[in-house]
Amino acid sequence: MLPVRLSSPYSLILCRPGAEPELAEELQRLYGLNCRREPGFCVLEGAGIPAEALIFERQRLPAARYLALKAGERLNEEVLDELWKGWDEDPQPWAIQAYGPEEGEGSQSKRLGGLEKELLRGGEKRIKGLKNWQRKAEKLLPKRKGKLLQVFLQGKGVWFSWAPCNELTSVVEGGRCRMRMDAAAPSRSYLKMEEALFRMEYEPQEEETVIDLGAAPGGWSFAFAKRGCRVTAIDNGPLKIQDACVRRIEHLHLDGLSFRLARHMPPVDWLVGDMLIPPGKALSVLRYWLGEHKCRNLVFNVKLPQQEPMPALEPLLEYLEQEAPELEVRQLYHDRREVTIFGSRVS
Ligand SMILES: C[S@@+](CC[C@H](N)C(=O)[O-])C[C@H]1O[C@@H](n2cnc3c(N)ncnc32)[C@H](O)[C@@H]1O
Repeated sequence: MLPVRLSSPYSLILCRPGAEPELAEELQRLYGLNCRREPGFCVLEGAGIPAEALIFERQRLPAARYLALKAGERLNEEVLDELWKGWDEDPQPWAIQAYGPEEGEGSQSKRLGGLEKELLRGGEKRIKGLKNWQRKAEKLLPKRKGKLLQVFLQGKGVWFSWAPCNELTSVVEGGRCRMRMDAAAPSRSYLKMEEALFRMEYEPQEEETVIDLGAAPGGWSFAFAKRGCRVTAIDNGPLKIQDACVRRIEHLHLDGLSFRLARHMPPVDWLVGDMLIPPGKALSVLRYWLGEHKCRNLVFNVKLPQQEPMPALEPLLEYLEQEAPELEVRQLYHDRREVTIFGSRVS
């Protein structure tokens, strides 16, 4: 039988399953790159990959190699040689993340566990003291130091990618940034805000001021009020917060699109908005809050049109590039057909 070999390098960009057309469109329109679409990711041929994280990207596997395995087949010595060469040429603290497609996550754990063991055994056989360099991924990645080996199951085969931690998009396995629900939160939208705050690495402080546009039933307002912030929640609908922190929220039955701060008021610490509005309307709201420097931090959700979101998003992206390039635009793990703009303004 012929030896099993690893394919030449490709780059994988993972996304929300179903968002492959949006990711492919983004690669094509913004970077002129063509890709092959697979469920939950796009494949770029050759090792080239945009330097910055894409809107629809969850995680990346740069210079990835694919190994097709037949049922019951193991990683052969040649493959293990090649894989560990990737580390041995530049030894650094390293970690491993092994995962498969989002669908059927539970059923993959046995296969993944076996693969991981095989890989580690192969590594230790080749490299003396390898274990001393190994770290837990959740400890190594946030420091943005060292290297990560990603092992991604696809069908009968496996993708492998070694990459410096500081070149990855997410510190979380597969970029699946699952947040924990709070039983007192009145809606699942709460998870979106928790994810945005996690990504910003900025914990809202007590007494910070927050304007929440499109607040009902109150998940986002709750996320800030429970941290001791003072929230103005704007929505004609009712808030459904039972928790005692509700006393920190003032509810105004007003239109969030035309809401303005009184002239004498200083900028608010946070402007957040979840009104399910399309990019064009979002742009006109942000022209006031960003263009007139009315907020220090922002988390703003934008609904995507059913077809081809990139042409609809482009005027908004161009505006942000000019006015607030420090903000990120990303499809969060907890977003559906929407994207979220978030970040802190540079003072
Ligand atoms: C997705 S829900 C918001 C969920 C909320 N962020 C939470 O965490 O529970 C959208 C809300 O936006 C409100 N909304 C839509 N257009 C609005 C507008 N022009 N002004 C104020 N609220 C608006 C709706 O009434 C609805 O309650």
